[in-house]
Amino acid sequence: MATPCSSIDQQKDSRAVRVFPYVVINMAMTADAKVATAGREVTTFGSSYDQRALYALRATADALLCGARTVEETGATLGTGSPKHLAARRRAGLAPAPVRVVVSGAASLSSEAELWKHPGAPIVVLVAESAPKAQRERLRQLGAEVWVSPGEGLDFSAALSWLAERHGIRRLAAEGGGRVNAALLAANRVDEIRLTCVPRVFGGRAAPTIADGSLAACLADAARFRLAQVRTVGDERFLRYVRGDSEATSRPAGSTLPPF
Ligand SMILES: NC(=O)c1ccc[n+]([C@@H]2O[C@H](COP(=O)([O-])OP(=O)(O)OC[C@H]3O[C@@H](n4cnc5c(N)ncnc54)[C@H](OP(=O)(O)O)[C@@H]3O)[C@@H](O)[C@H]2O)c1
Repeated sequence: MATPCSSIDQQKDSRAVRVFPYVVINMAMTADAKVATAGREVTTFGSSYDQRALYALRATADALLCGARTVEETGATLGTGSPKHLAARRRAGLAPAPVRVVVSGAASLSSEAELWKHPGAPIVVLVAESAPKAQRERLRQLGAEVWVSPGEGLDFSAALSWLAERHGIRRLAAEGGGRVNAALLAANRVDEIRLTCVPRVFGGRAAPTIADGSLAACLADAARFRLAQVRTVGDERFLRYVRGDSEATSRPAGSTLPPF
């Protein structure tokens, strides 16, 4: 008997009236598709060219989004980069720095995270309604704007739509980790995936990957992307995938904002 397949898009009806940012996932992965070692000792492994590509992408984004564990484990500050990047943002008419968005359903994001030590761009933390009130207040005291997802769990479509309305976010770069990426994909809100393939092998069943979450039980359920660009620099390969499903092309005008 054929496996029953349901659409991964639960937001089809409401999408017609809501506006969402254009979302690009940007990640580096090994030849065995890992984004860190199993013990999380190694979190950065791309070349300096890969780093430059990351900052070039950031320079075009209104917001950067990361999961709480990525922020804590990598010491990410989600900064703008060099004066050159700042100048590029100015020329493009963007705010001097992208809004920094952290996903932390339980509001567990550590007070010790490096991010807090770098004032500047606003920090928004997305939490679930079930997150303890004291934890939410702690994040507010640290200087974050805390968005509480209505209902059960964390509604990524609602969050992105709110970011577009409240902060004018048109282009959002999502920088991992795997759990956040999986949630964005499950919500059917990813427009583009940029991958840097680094010729290393980490192994480890527990090592994080690009999307750590069950997304498809059969091929028809799998989110579909189209290979739009391939570039090789040194021994790294840069892949750019864009949404390739008929759903994307039939989106109502204005529901997703322009690409990068
Ligand atoms: N190679 C690369 O390009 C790259 C890029 C980024 C990250 N990484 C690696 O990826 C690893 C981190 O990835 P990860 O998957 O473990 O963590 P993550 O996605 O960075 O963060 C996970 C946390 O985010 C919150 N979260 C994520 N999805 C959620 C959802 N659907 N609902 C509610 N909250 C949600 C939860 O916070 P609460 O616990 O507060 O609920 C969860 O514990 C690190 O080792 C990092 O080095 C690699």
